[in-house]
Amino acid sequence: MAVFSWSGNTLAVADRVAEDAHAELFRIEPATPYTTDYNEMLQIAQDEQAADTLPKIAGDVPNWSAYSTVYLGFPTWWGHLPQIVKSFLAEHDCTGKVVYPFNTHAGSGFASCLSDLAAACPGADIRDGLSLSGDSVSSNMARIDSWVAASV
Ligand SMILES: Cc1cc2nc3c(=O)[nH]c(=O)nc-3n(C[C@H](O)[C@H](O)[C@H](O)COP(=O)(O)O)c2cc1C
Repeated sequence: MAVFSWSGNTLAVADRVAEDAHAELFRIEPATPYTTDYNEMLQIAQDEQAADTLPKIAGDVPNWSAYSTVYLGFPTWWGHLPQIVKSFLAEHDCTGKVVYPFNTHAGSGFASCLSDLAAACPGADIRDGLSLSGDSVSSNMARIDSWVAASV
């Protein structure tokens, strides 16, 4: 499993998925840490999308080729997949892998994230995703459990 989470909501989902699926959790993080300021983050994310920047990520998943199934978690950012998740996918080929996407958001659901994901890893078999409102994660553990149960 790989997850990007800036403010912790998607990470809370990831922790539960990892537990349920007995999956190892890799955090997608920028090589240069992002700001912790919300308004600055909004601007940076918008600029990255406008320029289609692929920010450098810190580290790599050891033994990536050994995994046939990948749970991939991310927040919706400006209606899209965060650019740093695209960076991750550029360096971790999902061709031939089954990908289960999960997401948190503040109202827009996956928005364009799934089409962005399909474009970023055209050779992957992308399955039904789970999208939760970021402020409802703790009350949705049963939904997470049943989504994982349906995926294994
Ligand atoms: C840069 C940025 C852009 C965002 N854009 C959207 C958006 O377009 N739609 C939405 O519903 N929520 C948006 N949000 C809210 C996050 O998707 C939401 O808070 C999510 O749960 C955060 O996940 P995280 O804690 O794992 O980072 C945005 C948040 C940030 C920081």
